[in-house]
Amino acid sequence: MREVAIIGYGITRFGELWNKSLRDIFVEAAIKAIADANVDHIDSMYVGSMTPGVFVGQEHIGALMADYLGVAGIPAMRIESACASGGLALRQGFLEVASGMSDVALVGGVEKMTDGADATYALSTAADQEYEVYQGITFPGLYAMIAHAHMHNYGTTRDQLAMVAVKNHKNGALNPNAQFQREITRDTVINATMIADPLTLMDCSPVSDGAACVILCPLEKAKQYTDIPVKILASGAATDNLALHQREDITSLKAVRLSGERAFKQARLKPEDIDVAEVHDCFTIAEICVIEELGFVEKGKGGEFTERGYTALEGKIPVNTSGGLKAKGHPVGATGVAQVVEIVEQLRGNAGKRQVKGAKIGLTQNMGGSGASSVVHIFGV
Ligand code: COA
Repeated sequence: MREVAIIGYGITRFGELWNKSLRDIFVEAAIKAIADANVDHIDSMYVGSMTPGVFVGQEHIGALMADYLGVAGIPAMRIESACASGGLALRQGFLEVASGMSDVALVGGVEKMTDGADATYALSTAADQEYEVYQGITFPGLYAMIAHAHMHNYGTTRDQLAMVAVKNHKNGALNPNAQFQREITRDTVINATMIADPLTLMDCSPVSDGAACVILCPLEKAKQYTDIPVKILASGAATDNLALHQREDITSLKAVRLSGERAFKQARLKPEDIDVAEVHDCFTIAEICVIEELGFVEKGKGGEFTERGYTALEGKIPVNTSGGLKAKGHPVGATGVAQVVEIVEQLRGNAGKRQVKGAKIGLTQNMGGSGASSVVHIFGV
């Protein structure tokens, strides 16, 4: 296997992009990434997208995006694993370049969620239809059950959940591409419209449009294109039961733990070696569970860790410096690649007011549904 580096990135603004189509936003991010990497060709392309067929009636987007980018002829395909589609697209691009099949691979993620489709229905296709969705549960409902169990088992408080949203909105206010660039308070979260008890509107990631792309090449060739290649040190992936009721403990995200362990082993690193992390905070409780499963804090203590400011921009382990899914937005298939864009910006020292000083090692964690798939990447400069 060859070592692989990221040599360029591009991202659109996230939010309701009503005047741009699915292909427009993908091509916008891809052109930015190509220009940033300064490459004159692409050998292959992987596009993460959860369900463009349901959101905008468009399938077959590997070929479509290659065509509209002006590179038709290359191998190009869509990768799907619900909200982890973008992270798994990166894994495929990594394997493509590591194996020697391609020298220059474009990995993108894209979703257009605000064009009129029933987003709650579209998202629910990632849950177990027979055992969950037919009974009336939605994603906010599934994560609300996880939140109640976490509060019951570990004493996690309503305020601690709120502090995840407060922190991520604070970071999002520093990100010019974020959907919500405004700070909020604990009271804003707690007094917002109830969505699924105990989660209010402000505990939820929003419905968003957006795209993000990165360009990969073998590490040995990366210096031809950029002064600061970002090396992919590890790629760990895992799966778990789709339906929550089949899990022994619904507060344990086993796929997150396994994907993290695999990535740390491959990179020969430990959680305390990570300088900055982007994790899957689709709901506030998700960030708390994920930082526990990745080993940033012991099980049950994620709420307290957040409340004490350890995951803030200036904290021990800054988490979701981009604003996370909560404030940056969550165009589901794009999210995994957008997380990588944030880490590349951080490791190159390009993150502006969100910059974590001296960041050298970064991690992304992207998951599908209520945690049935998860993928962790570790990066270094
Ligand atoms: N966070 C902060 N503000 C939000 C928001 C969010 N998650 N969602 C909507 N808003 C804002 C809107 O910008 C709007 O503000 P405005 O009145 O100033 O324009 C207002 O709240 C109402 O927006 P609206 O679009 O009517 O909200 P909604 O009730 O239709 O949707 C949710 C709110 C929480 C139901 C929706 O965002 C949602 O389903 N989120 C979860 C998405 C999800 O499950 N993703 C997959 C995870 S696995």
